[in-house]
Amino acid sequence: MKLIENIKQPIAFEMDLFEKKFRLSMSSRVALLNRITHYIVNRKGKQMRPMFVFLTAKMISNGEVSERTYRGASVLELIHTATLVHDDVVDESDRRRGFFSVNALWKNKIAVLVGDFLLSKGLLLCIDNNDFDLLKIISVAVREMSEGELLQIEKARNLDITEVVYYEIIRQKTATLIAACCSLGAASVKPLSNDIETMRKFGELIGMAFQIKDDLFDYGTKQIGKPTGIDIKEQKMTLPLIYVLNQCSKKEKRWIINSIKNHNKDSKRVNEVISFVKDNGGLDYAVSKMKYFQKEALHLLEHFPESIYKNSLILMVNYVIERNK
Ligand code: IPE
Ligand code: IPE
Ligand code: MG
Ligand code: MG
Repeated sequence: MKLIENIKQPIAFEMDLFEKKFRLSMSSRVALLNRITHYIVNRKGKQMRPMFVFLTAKMISNGEVSERTYRGASVLELIHTATLVHDDVVDESDRRRGFFSVNALWKNKIAVLVGDFLLSKGLLLCIDNNDFDLLKIISVAVREMSEGELLQIEKARNLDITEVVYYEIIRQKTATLIAACCSLGAASVKPLSNDIETMRKFGELIGMAFQIKDDLFDYGTKQIGKPTGIDIKEQKMTLPLIYVLNQCSKKEKRWIINSIKNHNKDSKRVNEVISFVKDNGGLDYAVSKMKYFQKEALHLLEHFPESIYKNSLILMVNYVIERNK
């Protein structure tokens, strides 16, 4: 059995029902919107966020989930979907999940509006059901994600990012949403418990590893359903490059910065920078940091008694860094 099937086994029923609810949560009276949301849900992603929600909820409650858990899972996947639609506009990317991105097919203005629609649908799902504790968790994540994206743009402009700032960016733009999945999963079944904070921290740590893995994909040549090799073109400096910049000579550093600043659309030059990063241990360093976050996340799970749900969460932590898309 594939790893992902193994992980899903204890939450197979919930994931099935979730999918039906998730589809419904996007409906609109506007035909164009329905056409686009259909396009989106028919090309589904890995659904890791709802998986984190259900696995956490079931681990904490010994197998129980509630309607709140389902709503939380839908809201988080809606917000995730909205940010991907917006992200492809921001990154000028024309592919997502192996197909054309929304902006590639319908243009930027429509993608911006569809992203806003999905975000509002998510927030309303909480509000209409008085899930204000969940809404708080989610709203914090949305604020952090926007700040993280803007911090990333600010740093890309000046090309002066440090390793510490990189961690802050990925914590905000990616890890907070996964943290929200895990804390919300706990809060949906056990409001006010200390487990909510433990699981938030767990999600944050594994979210960090998740984004480092995503940034490593950009240096690879594997087919992952979205473009690779675009970060340097977008002047986005990620961990492998940041590390190498700190290690190399002043002359090499000048060459790299000049390449990114003035030759970032020149594929040959960009490939030379990519090779330089690989040859100077950039990828190995990023892998070691990714494993550090993974280990810290696993530590936090030691608080909880053994169960099939906990076991799946452990497998999920490993999947985050071993996945091939
Ligand atoms: C992609 O997330 C966006 C990042 C935070 C790196 P996923 O890799 O979970 O995307 P899908 O939903 O599976 O397509
Ligand atoms: C992912 O950002 C989207 C958010 C976290 C908001 P990236 O631009 O790094 O991810 P991909 O590689 O396009 O999915
Ligand atoms: Mg981006
Ligand atoms: Mg992107």
